[in-house]
Amino acid sequence: MKSKDSSAKRKRKHRSIKELNTTLSLERQLLQNLLDNIPDAIYFKDDKNRIIRVNRFYAEGFKLPPEDIIGKTDFDFFPKDQAQKMFEDDLYVLKTGKPIIGKIERTLLPNGTYNCVTTTKIPIKNKKGKSIGTLGVTRDITAYDNSERTNLDMIINSLKVLDKILETKDPYTFGHTRRVSMIAERIAKELKWDENRVLELKMSAELHDIGKILIPLEILNKPGKLSDLEYKMVQEHAKQSYDMLKPYSFPSQLPEAIYQHHERLDGNGYPRGLMGDKILPEAKILAICDVLESMISHRPYRQALGMDVTLKELKENSGNKYDREIVDVVLRIINENNNKPFWLNSDSSQ
Ligand SMILES: [Fe+2]
Ligand SMILES: [Fe+2]
Repeated sequence: MKSKDSSAKRKRKHRSIKELNTTLSLERQLLQNLLDNIPDAIYFKDDKNRIIRVNRFYAEGFKLPPEDIIGKTDFDFFPKDQAQKMFEDDLYVLKTGKPIIGKIERTLLPNGTYNCVTTTKIPIKNKKGKSIGTLGVTRDITAYDNSERTNLDMIINSLKVLDKILETKDPYTFGHTRRVSMIAERIAKELKWDENRVLELKMSAELHDIGKILIPLEILNKPGKLSDLEYKMVQEHAKQSYDMLKPYSFPSQLPEAIYQHHERLDGNGYPRGLMGDKILPEAKILAICDVLESMISHRPYRQALGMDVTLKELKENSGNKYDREIVDVVLRIINENNNKPFWLNSDSSQ
């Protein structure tokens, strides 16, 4: 009787191990199928950021067999600064145990072209909840990005037409936004901003005064001092620019940077009196470029103030009105250009 029981037990145990193996093998097969057929790059890394497994799509992207990828890191495949950013993201996920969801980034491919991808990284944890690696999923959205860019270019071009109309009506500011854009580009490059951020900053500069189109020309071109009410109307242009741009799905914080381009670090700017780090770096650059370009140019109510007065304004207010690091960059570039406005070197609008 006893041996009958234990034989039945053994059979049950054998059956359940068999079932478990079948389930495991099915799950492995499903996972492998998913990994091999999903059109996203999937990769697993250990806690030293070494790649421990990739799917077919990932390997095909590098035109390498998976075994040539395993054990390597992003530094073996991507330019150093790009790999460094990836490394920092992996480290963040490992250290905090928090995921990074849908980060949009541009990747330089081995053939020298860029693609646009969205990346999600999640921590892999052991039973005790400790992060022991990361799982990354990267999706190529270049085609979508290109069509978005085309739409955006169309919007930007329409807005630029508006801006040109404004400049034609207001000859004193003719070329102002373009020159502000040139100065901003130079500063951002000196600050080693990445290509996309520089592009967005240039776009912000081109559009920063678009709201002025709503201000009566008699006020914009008034030769004398503005009344308090008129000055208030002119100040409104920062908010009006923001309101005009906000409905469009601009990249990053473009409308907000424009909203802030007359803010000052000490809170004495307008329209919201923002202070210090409440002001975006983009807006801090725009503010300085705007002052620099305006002071060097003629205005209906005054002559051009000249480089000495302009530099004095920047130096005296470095750290209180204007960002010190950006002022230092501007002073250095102007000094290298023999105290001449470097943005006029290649400007044909003068
Ligand atoms: Fe402005
Ligand atoms: Fe301006």
